[in-house]
Amino acid sequence: MLSFAPANLGPEFYGDPYPTYRMLREQDPIHLCPDGTWFLTKYADLDRIYRDRRSFSSDKKAVFAPKFGTHSPLYEHHTNSLVFNDPPYHTRVRRAIVGALTPHVLKDMAGSVARLIDRLLTQIELKGEFDAIEDFAAAIPVEVIGNLLSVPQAERGPLREWSLAILGALEPVLTPEQQQRGDAAVVDFLAYLRTLIARRRRNLANDEDMLARLIREERAAEPISETELLHNCVFLLNAGHETTTNLIGNALHLLLTHEGQLERLRADPTLINPAVEECLRCESPNQLGNRLVVEPVQIADRLLEPGAFLHLCIGAANRDPEMFPKPDGFDIGRTPNPHLAFAAGGHACAGMSVARLEGQLAIQRIVERFSGLRLRGEGVRGARVRFRGFRSLPLSVS
Ligand code: HEM
Repeated sequence: MLSFAPANLGPEFYGDPYPTYRMLREQDPIHLCPDGTWFLTKYADLDRIYRDRRSFSSDKKAVFAPKFGTHSPLYEHHTNSLVFNDPPYHTRVRRAIVGALTPHVLKDMAGSVARLIDRLLTQIELKGEFDAIEDFAAAIPVEVIGNLLSVPQAERGPLREWSLAILGALEPVLTPEQQQRGDAAVVDFLAYLRTLIARRRRNLANDEDMLARLIREERAAEPISETELLHNCVFLLNAGHETTTNLIGNALHLLLTHEGQLERLRADPTLINPAVEECLRCESPNQLGNRLVVEPVQIADRLLEPGAFLHLCIGAANRDPEMFPKPDGFDIGRTPNPHLAFAAGGHACAGMSVARLEGQLAIQRIVERFSGLRLRGEGVRGARVRFRGFRSLPLSVS
């Protein structure tokens, strides 16, 4: 009998999880894991669950309490983040975040992101050999979120390490070191944000940036508390950082390892948008979501009871042949491409337009600038089941 446990995976799986996902999808698409949780791999099931907020909850207090301990900074952080909450709290915080990402803000952002990318590419040109993650992919999102939260340039240094430490603690198995690093990062990040927000409160005027909008929610008819404000700022950095870094790194790797696709993009730069969507589908940066069943619900031949904990495998659903012809192929012209990389429904990624903008500009500009873009070695993947990306990816340009 097929046995799969997200908490017990090896290097072979991390190198290429897709054969395992295919086997699960074909033989047991709603798989009961040894620890009593369920692992789902079919597109239609995930799409339905993401859109049904009555039967499936995002609230993870019951799961995080034994994992982190109810008095830990990580528990306080994750249980206050909008992504792990249901309405009405979720609705209020989401409104403030989505409201700040207007077309006008995105247009301004495009200019500053393009300038940042060009500065990075100039440094890369001087070096010739570089690490696509450290020197390029990871350097972009941290600046973008820093701008959204109005973090002064000189104070952005520790943001990336804080974010990696907090996200690392979300893996299915948590080591004591990971918990310690994650807790310390939450404490340090909160201390920093308290001073940043105190400064902003004195000087808010009619500012429309995301931080100003969230601060104003403290005075709304149904206000958010300072704790909630702080934790959602921390969440924004985390949500937008590692995921977008992985999108850019995975996209470069896919283009450099699939014959003809990079040349196709060079020959027709209008393919940039479908190319980025195909990267999001083929190597989804966020491979796993979770939901808790709150009322008895039938999915295919299974009756799931309240309390059942579901792993929603985006990485598998995005390669479901019932939805995508030749699902394991990489075709930068694929349309339509209704992938679930940003999930779907009420919790669908609130920053997807920002992520797309960063991904499109990064890939478009590096491809346009360097006709000789090459892999210099294998690259090292992060051995994680939830987030899929590279820790380092050696490239050269000429
Ligand atoms: C390629 C990059 C990204 C990917 C793949 C991604 C993926 C996702 C996914 C799958 C979710 C749904 C989580 C769930 O409900 O289970 C989500 C939620 C979210 N993402 Fe993203 N994300 C990306 C970039 C960003 C960026 C750049 C931002 C911010 C500027 C952002 C902000 C958010 C927020 C605020 C939520 C919570 C939405 C809610 O609960 O209503 N994300 N993201």
